Amino acid sequence: MSRKMMIAGNWKMNGLQQDGVELAAAVKQAVKAKKWNCEFVVCPPFTLLYAVKKALRGAKVALGAQDCHTAEKGAHTGDISPLMLKDLGCSYVILGHSERRADHKESSAMVKEKAIAAKKAGLKAIICIGETLAERESGKTLDICAKQVRESVPDGAKAADVVIAYEPVWAIGSGKTPTAEQVEEVHSQVRKVLAQKLGKAEAGKMRILYGGSVKPANAAQMLALEDVDGALIGGASLKADDFINIAANAGC
Ligand code: 13P
Repeated sequence: MSRKMMIAGNWKMNGLQQDGVELAAAVKQAVKAKKWNCEFVVCPPFTLLYAVKKALRGAKVALGAQDCHTAEKGAHTGDISPLMLKDLGCSYVILGHSERRADHKESSAMVKEKAIAAKKAGLKAIICIGETLAERESGKTLDICAKQVRESVPDGAKAADVVIAYEPVWAIGSGKTPTAEQVEEVHSQVRKVLAQKLGKAEAGKMRILYGGSVKPANAAQMLALEDVDGALIGGASLKADDFINIAANAGC
């Protein structure tokens, strides 16, 4: 089953206007320098989406946001609707990142509602799952990830609308990564759960990204795994060279 690799950058809460424009311009230049066999996505904070969209014009780099509300519009002070993101030029939205699950008490049920709303607005969702260190150490990783997939992915979801990102919480920003065997163990299990939920054909087409301390130095090993279809990159996506070298080292 051939799945197009995705190299996605999650800029998190980083960058003022000038930083965002400079980073986007550097990414654009690097992406335009050769023909790539992957899909690039950058997900800046809301405040940078418009400027980054303009800075990326003409480059094959999709724009994504880092969260959205479930409603199209209305009395939700401080929130951003999926329709607004679509209107701004986004094609993706990251949902259920562990930082949002922790900081904003987002449940899998909420993530699922957001994914349904995103699809309605014409956005593709990058749905994040992953275990904490305590969960890994108590042998619960596969159960936790399976439960998050079952509860966060909408019924009937299609590979064209949803991407999964496995991000072990303890690997995020820590410089620690699971072994290749541990990553493949989770990814192949996630695909099995997707097959139970969505059918084998759809599960076979759905991309499952790995995220958590992905760097140019470990990209080749992580992205060569059978069920790893790309990376969701935090810290290293803030440097255009590192971001691009992750794709290059992965053979994209
Ligand atoms: P780091 O690449 O900084 O570990 O972050 C990963 C992440 O959370 C991407 O969503």
